[in-house]
Amino acid sequence: MKLFIPGPTHVEQDVLNAMAQYPVGHRTHAYRELHNEVREGIKDVLMTKQNVMLVTSSATGLLEAGVRNLVGKRVLNLVCGAFSQRQADITKECDIPQDTLSVPWGDGFTPKQVDEALKNGDYDAVTLVHNETSTGVMNPLKEIAQIVQKYDDVLFIVDAVSSMSGVEIKMDEWGIDFIVASVQKAWALPPGFAILGLSDKALERAKLIPQSQRGHYFDILKLAKADAKNETPITPSIPHIYGLKLRLQKIREEGLYARFNRHHEMANKVRNWGKARFGLYAKDGFASDTLTCFTNDCGIDLDAFGKAMESRGFLISGGYGDLKGKTFRIAHLGALHHEDIDELIAVMDEVLIEL
Ligand SMILES: Cc1ncc(COP(=O)(O)O)c(C=O)c1O
Repeated sequence: MKLFIPGPTHVEQDVLNAMAQYPVGHRTHAYRELHNEVREGIKDVLMTKQNVMLVTSSATGLLEAGVRNLVGKRVLNLVCGAFSQRQADITKECDIPQDTLSVPWGDGFTPKQVDEALKNGDYDAVTLVHNETSTGVMNPLKEIAQIVQKYDDVLFIVDAVSSMSGVEIKMDEWGIDFIVASVQKAWALPPGFAILGLSDKALERAKLIPQSQRGHYFDILKLAKADAKNETPITPSIPHIYGLKLRLQKIREEGLYARFNRHHEMANKVRNWGKARFGLYAKDGFASDTLTCFTNDCGIDLDAFGKAMESRGFLISGGYGDLKGKTFRIAHLGALHHEDIDELIAVMDEVLIEL
C-alpha cells in the first residue's frame, strides 16, 4: 500500500531502517551529539538562527502549547477550515481569551483582513494554519507575517503541520515566533513526533506567563532549558530522531529549493490532472503545494473510487470533517516523487473509466 493521504505519508525503507537502530541512552554524549546535529539541520530548513525544539508528541500538543505559553492578554484565531477551527477550540478549552476571525472554507486569508483585525483588537498573539489540510488551502504566510510584524506586541503562532519542509518558510526573516509541524507530513516519517521553531521573543514572553498556564509537559521554558544541553526534558522518541537525521541528509542531497520546487511541480501535475474532471476546492490563488482537495463536480461515487484505488495499493483520502462525502484529497509531499504521482494518475484514470 502506498500512502497518498495527507499524513501519515509514504516513508522509504532506508528511513524506516534508520529508525530501527539500537537505542542510545538519552542522557549520554552519543545522544547529545545526535540531538545537536538534528536540531541544527532543522534550523537550516526553517532558515532560523533562533531556537528549534525536538518534541515527542503529535503536533496538537504543541498547538496547545503555543496558546498556553504565549498568550498573556488575548489571541486572534484565524479560522478557514477544520484544523484552524480546532486551534480555536483548543484556545477556548484552555480558557485563554480569544476572538475568532473566520473566512468560508475554501478561502484563505488576505494580509488586509489580518491587518484590519489586529488594528481593531487588543491582541498579543495571532494563530494561523499555514496549510489547511482539510481544504487544500495554503495561506500567504510571508505576506501575513509582514503584517503581523507591524504589531510589536503580537506574537505569530503558525501551524505548519502539513507544509514545513515542503515549501519555503523563512522563520527569522518573516518574523515567525512559534511554528509547529508533525513529522508524518512533508517530513515523511511515521507519526508520533513534532518539531517546534521558536523565536527568542516568544521565550521572553513565556517568562511572563504563569507556570499554571504553561503547564508541565509542554512548558517551552523547560524545553529550552533542556535543549541548551542538547537534551529534552523527558525521554524522547529516539527512533524518530534517527529518522530525522537521515531525512535531513536526504534533504541536503536533493537541495532545499529543489525540494520546494518538486512539491510545487507535483502540485501542478495533480491539479492539472483533476481540473479536467473535478473542481478545485481551494479558491484561486490559495491552492496548496503539498495537497490538493477536489470537489466532486462530476458526481462519481467517491466511496467506490477510494475503495478501487485502495484495492490497487494506493490510499487516497476522502473529505475531512464537514467535507466528508463531498471532496477527496491527494497529498503530494515528502518522500513522494514525480514517478509516484505519474503512477497514481495512471491508476486513477484506469479506475475512473471502470466506475
Ligand atoms: C493543519 C493541521 N494541523 C494540525 C494537525 C494535527 O496534527 P497531529 O495529528 O500530528 O497532532 C493536522 C493533522 O492532520 C493538520 O493537518
